Amino acid sequence: MTLQLRVYVPPHPLIKHWLAVARDVATPPVLFRSAITELGRWLTYEAAREWLPTMETMVQSPLDSCPATLIDPEVPVAVVPILRAGLGLLEGAQSLLPLASIYHLGLVRNEETLEPTCYLNKLPEKFDPQTRVLITDPMLATGGSIMLAMAELTQRGIDPAMTRIVCVVAAPPALQKLSAAYAGLNVYTATIDEIVNNQGYIVPGLGDAGDRIYGT
Ligand code: PRP
Ligand code: URA
Repeated sequence: MTLQLRVYVPPHPLIKHWLAVARDVATPPVLFRSAITELGRWLTYEAAREWLPTMETMVQSPLDSCPATLIDPEVPVAVVPILRAGLGLLEGAQSLLPLASIYHLGLVRNEETLEPTCYLNKLPEKFDPQTRVLITDPMLATGGSIMLAMAELTQRGIDPAMTRIVCVVAAPPALQKLSAAYAGLNVYTATIDEIVNNQGYIVPGLGDAGDRIYGT
C-alpha cells in the first residue's frame, strides 16, 4: 500500500459551529478562546480514531465477565502544541488525552520573510519510536512552521505515520509541502481555505489566531 498524506475535514455540526464563531471578526477574545478550545476537543476526538493505542482485556460486569477494550497506558502519547496559537487547541485536546505528555514548541514567523524561527524547544532528545504524536496549531498557511515542527520531531525518531496534526484552517501551500515530505501523515482540520495572501494570511481564514486568542 502506498502511504500518502490524508486530510480529514470532519462533517460535524459542532466543528462547523465553532469554526463560524472563530471566523467572525465580531467575536471577542474570550469567546474566540472558547471556540478554539472546542475545536481542539472535537478535532482531537476525530483524530484519535485508529490512532490512540488500545488493549484487549476482560472485565467483570455485575452479571458476567465480557471482553473489553481499554486505552493502553504503556504506549506513549505526546501532544506538541506550537506556541503561541497551538496552546489554544491544547486544553480541548488534553481533556481527551489526560495521560499524554505535553512537549511545547515555540515558533514565530518573521513578519516580512514569513520564515519561522524556534524560540522554545521542550522536545526530548529522542522519542520512543512507538510514540503517538498529536501536533496542535490552528493555522497551516505557507507551511513553514509545520514543516519546521515536523523536522524537529522526525529527527528525534517520530514516525510520520503515527503523527496527527490538529488545526483549524489549512491552506494548499502547507498541505502540498507536507504531502511531498511526509507520506502517511494525517491532518484533521475544520476547513481548507484556498488562498494565502502576500502577507502570509489565510483568506478568509480567521485572522491572526495567536493575537485573537490572547487579545494582543
Ligand atoms: C501562526 C500560526 C502558525 C503559523 C502558520 O503563528 O499559529 O504557527 O503562523 O503560518 P505558516 O504556515 O505560514 O508558517 P505565528 O508565527 O503568527 O505565531 P503566534 O502563534 O505566536 O501568533
Ligand atoms: N497565522 C495566522 O495566525 N493566521 C493566518 O492566517 C496565517 C498564519
